[in-house]
Amino acid sequence: MKKRLIKILPYPMEEKLRKLLNTYRAKKAFLYDHRRYKDHSATTGYNTEEKLRARIMMVYHIAEKGLTMPIPRLGFGQENIFTICRYCEEYFTKYNRTNHQVLHAVAVLQEYLRFHERNNYELDKALVDRIGTIKGMVKDVEIMDGKQIMITSEEYFKEVKSDFKAFSNSRKSVRSYSESEIPIELINSSIEMANNTPSACNRQTARVHVYTKKEDMQKILGEQNGNRGFGHLADKIIVVTAELGVFSQAMERNQAYIDGGMYLMNLLYTLHYNKIAVCTLNCSHTPTRDKVMRNLCKIKESEVFIAILACGMMPEEASIALSPRYGCTN
Ligand SMILES: Cc1cc2nc3c(=O)[nH]c(=O)nc-3n(C[C@H](O)[C@H](O)[C@H](O)COP(=O)(O)O)c2cc1C
Repeated sequence: MKKRLIKILPYPMEEKLRKLLNTYRAKKAFLYDHRRYKDHSATTGYNTEEKLRARIMMVYHIAEKGLTMPIPRLGFGQENIFTICRYCEEYFTKYNRTNHQVLHAVAVLQEYLRFHERNNYELDKALVDRIGTIKGMVKDVEIMDGKQIMITSEEYFKEVKSDFKAFSNSRKSVRSYSESEIPIELINSSIEMANNTPSACNRQTARVHVYTKKEDMQKILGEQNGNRGFGHLADKIIVVTAELGVFSQAMERNQAYIDGGMYLMNLLYTLHYNKIAVCTLNCSHTPTRDKVMRNLCKIKESEVFIAILACGMMPEEASIALSPRYGCTN
């Protein structure tokens, strides 16, 4: 009925009505997404096992990353360690003591203690006792080693020309970079290969912005919230965005993020192939920070941020976070 009505109208009116209808549909769709996000994300609390576990994974990963920093700061992140303990206690009390992701959190706590012991640093006694309590809750369960991986550059890149399984298993986030410059040709060649990424109707929404000036990088990384302790060592940064203008109507509202995410993953692989050490940095911005970042990166209003890649040449040796994955079941 709506379609037929639009068709019998004179062209300018038809256009106007179509625009109004599309705008209305987009708004309705975004409200639908908003409702789903509000109801099912952890925005209003970690009130299910899944949500609490994801929160634990997030906080233990912060500690895990801290242990891999080029120069870890003794006594780092104690508040976060208390948080891990609190959430683990809640999880073990409410759910189970067998989930390997939550047990990995305990392994990270253990490694945090060992790291400070090795460096003769006396941690707050209350913190040590708290970790002891959590370990006590799972004393009859086997806990894997939480020590991060120390790897040489040669070892890290040894599979870059191997079959895909070995290649893909060998890529990890690297948060330590040497002082050497990345030849720009390697960045360009990585981007060229990543352009093979498929996209919806081949509209190729991904855009790549490379920053090489220390001053620009410092400003951008200064606003990003996940690069403390290593971002300053990056030789170049790459900002991946996606152009909204190639999409239309409500049903394509998330397509830029899907196509952009696929491009990002491909770029991570091509950079790895070219032996560049990389760490993805989130662009999970509030609207205020989005505006600031847009300004600093000189990103067009029509583009949305996908992620930032901190890139550098690999040092002779680097520490890499374990970041264990789920198996086929959780
Ligand atoms: C979209 C995205 C955002 C990320 N943001 C950050 C970040 O801000 N800081 C950081 O140190 N790592 C960040 N990471 C890296 C993840 O922590 C890392 O990829 C994950 O733990 C898996 O480890 P792997 O890359 O070593 O396989 C991000 C990764 C992705 C995919």
